[in-house]
Amino acid sequence: MRIKGRRNYNPLWQPTAQQVMIDRISAGPITVLLIGTCTNFAIFLMSNPHLKKNIKHIYIMGGGVRTKNPTGNLFTDYTSNPYAESNMFGDPFAAYQVFHSGIPITLIPLDATNSIPISKNFFNTFEQSQNTYEAQYCFQSLKAARDASQLGDKFYTRFFMWDSFASGVATSIMSKSNKPNGENEFAEMEYMNITVVTSNEPYGVNDGSNLFFDGHDIPRFNLTKGGVHSGHVQTGLRDPFCIVKNGKGKCQVINCPQHTGRFNFTTEFPYYKKVLYKPDFGSNKLGKPVVFDMDMSAGDFLTLFYLLKVPLEVINLKAIIVSPTGWANAATIDIIYDLLHMMGRDDIPVGLGDIFATNQSDAIFSSVGDCKYIKAIPHGSGGLIDSDTLYGLARDLPRSPRRYTQENSLKDGTPQKQPLALEVWKSVVKTLDPGSRINILTNGPLTNLAKIILSEKNTTSIYQDVYIVGGHISRGDWDKGNVFTIHSNEFAEFNMFLDPSAAKTVFDSNLNITLIPLGIQRRVGSLPRILEKLQETKRTPEAKFASRLLSMLYGLQQSHVLYRHVDKFSQEILGALVLAGDLKPTMQVKPVKVLAEGVESTDGQTMIDEKDGKLVKILEDVNYTAYYDLFANRLNDLKQSAVIGSFDEQRRLWSRQPK
Ligand SMILES: *[C@@H]1O[C@H](CO)[C@@H](O)[C@H](O)[C@H]1NC(C)=O
Ligand SMILES: *[C@@H]1O[C@H](CO)[C@@H](O)[C@H](O)[C@H]1NC(C)=O
Ligand SMILES: *[C@@H]1O[C@H](CO)[C@@H](O)[C@H](O)[C@H]1NC(C)=O
Ligand SMILES: *[C@@H]1O[C@H](CO)[C@@H](O)[C@H](O)[C@H]1NC(C)=O
Ligand SMILES: *[C@@H]1O[C@H](CO)[C@@H](O)[C@H](O)[C@H]1NC(C)=O
Ligand SMILES: *[C@@H]1O[C@H](CO)[C@@H](O)[C@H](O)[C@H]1NC(C)=O
Ligand SMILES: *[C@@H]1O[C@H](CO)[C@@H](O)[C@H](O)[C@H]1NC(C)=O
Repeated sequence: MRIKGRRNYNPLWQPTAQQVMIDRISAGPITVLLIGTCTNFAIFLMSNPHLKKNIKHIYIMGGGVRTKNPTGNLFTDYTSNPYAESNMFGDPFAAYQVFHSGIPITLIPLDATNSIPISKNFFNTFEQSQNTYEAQYCFQSLKAARDASQLGDKFYTRFFMWDSFASGVATSIMSKSNKPNGENEFAEMEYMNITVVTSNEPYGVNDGSNLFFDGHDIPRFNLTKGGVHSGHVQTGLRDPFCIVKNGKGKCQVINCPQHTGRFNFTTEFPYYKKVLYKPDFGSNKLGKPVVFDMDMSAGDFLTLFYLLKVPLEVINLKAIIVSPTGWANAATIDIIYDLLHMMGRDDIPVGLGDIFATNQSDAIFSSVGDCKYIKAIPHGSGGLIDSDTLYGLARDLPRSPRRYTQENSLKDGTPQKQPLALEVWKSVVKTLDPGSRINILTNGPLTNLAKIILSEKNTTSIYQDVYIVGGHISRGDWDKGNVFTIHSNEFAEFNMFLDPSAAKTVFDSNLNITLIPLGIQRRVGSLPRILEKLQETKRTPEAKFASRLLSMLYGLQQSHVLYRHVDKFSQEILGALVLAGDLKPTMQVKPVKVLAEGVESTDGQTMIDEKDGKLVKILEDVNYTAYYDLFANRLNDLKQSAVIGSFDEQRRLWSRQPK
């Protein structure tokens, strides 16, 4: 999609799914179409029983009911559960609530959708007839899915009309509502009595897997002890209880053209042009090579602005590597490209790191895994969704041409992919001037750095200094860490907690580490002070943007208890100031150790340990007044300033003929 509508996500203003359903369903009779898990709708039914009467019919894509052979589609592992279909597996109890709600249901199950693969013939025919923008959009998405799957011709036998077929059947039935028994132009219909299996026999055994029963005297939702919901619940992809000897698995879930859209920038903006902005280094002698490892929290974007403003003769930002094991989702990576575009630095490569923390991905199917640590990041409240959108402000950044899309960049038959962190790292090492060494600044979990260390056999000649923003050296029981969502863990700091194994690898290495721990960060992050300084002049687009972001954080912090912690993000900038040599901090060398034993209540804690600790430089003191001045002055400096200020500026540029 290349179009931006006027509406967008805004923290605290975004309506919830429940609110939207309440508004729409209380307005009058309505039909509901469910093409994902049933969670939202089940919660709605349980919380608003009086509105059930308004729901005339439910159409559901999901389940598999007819064939005798296992009919599931959990392709990441069939050995534990060959029966389940993903939408049902995603929340079986919710599906049960919906199926047994008493509202008439039309189910479009997997065994029906499996009869209509997206054949080559269909694909080619679709390609020939794209008369509307929405048809173009659908076709291009399908093509992108095909190319990304790298299945070649097998794609045409593995991909089916799932949700699209369900929508077709539903609209066809609705448009012929006078015909009995759901007659429609696409499918034959049949009445069946079905249910959803939510737990596995034997029922009533408390083995720690069933959160409705285990540990509760009265089962949640008043469920019946020993009833169909009280058995073993599948706890993971390879739950040993579910895998039987012949490899078949025993856990189950269900056994049984007028209003054409504006499609792209070319049509919306007559003078739209794709440009990449790159600086002209001329004969300047570039400063020390730096790789910035970030996790896409708001503070990391502020830090990135800062790094880009430090004179090129001081810092030469060679690459950015991104860790999606922290505050934002991997898809957010486009915001980095947009920020670089704004600052005229489309030349800086960006590499994406592993999706899961060290040792958290599945041993056999590595694109699935566990959320043991990342579950500590809240949704909203400054965490995911908020970070993913930069609090709704990301869309105001200028938009860089998307570099890594499948649609038009098929080279040698393989899609151009987003480069990985390790690939970017290797190319930086390869192109390093003889005799120079890389400095690394990490503002997030240490997943990427650990991986780099493990991949380099001979490190001594590559690294200069490593600046790590994170860790907490507690000075006593009162001096707590900041993982506020995991109550049992009082002393850890987020960046260490999010990937303790990686942190351990880094602290066990021979790198020269400078640690910027929580204690000192906490002394510099006053949002009102930083805002006051920034707003004194506010001359550059980057100062304006940073000021808007920081005002947003401050406003949220003032208005809602869930946002109390967001000044954390203005403290993260400290690492960049130290790296740039702008502050003259006091350091001490101490032996530090990180705990990583798989124990939630202690993992990620850092402590002084004379015997097992690694000697690192720890920041002890800085000039706090200087911190605010330095940040504000750098951002307001007219040198190395933005080349394009905002999306609005692009919008104006692309609407008028260039002079
Ligand atoms: C479904 O179950 C009900 C109640 O047990 C029964 O009356 C009905 O005949 C069954 N319908 C079908 C299609 O099996
Ligand atoms: C559970 O049952 C009790 C007693 O019948 C009732 O007061 C309570 O509202 C029920 N709770 C739920 C969640 O249905
Ligand atoms: C955008 O729209 C124009 C005009 O309809 C069309 O020629 C062009 O191919 C479209 N671009 C893409 C990338 O789809
Ligand atoms: C965890 O990961 C590290 C690095 O990838 C590896 O060396 C170690 O063996 C792993 N530990 C476990 C318990 O899997
Ligand atoms: C590592 O690299 C340096 C510089 O290239 C070299 O002098 C040294 O011998 C290497 N060490 C090992 C163990 O290969
Ligand atoms: C750490 O710093 C010391 C002193 O500057 C240097 O001799 C050593 O090679 C450095 N270690 C690494 C891994 O870069
Ligand atoms: C701290 O920084 C401020 C502002 O940059 C400066 O005026 C002051 O002299 C500095 N204090 C010390 C002790 O260096």
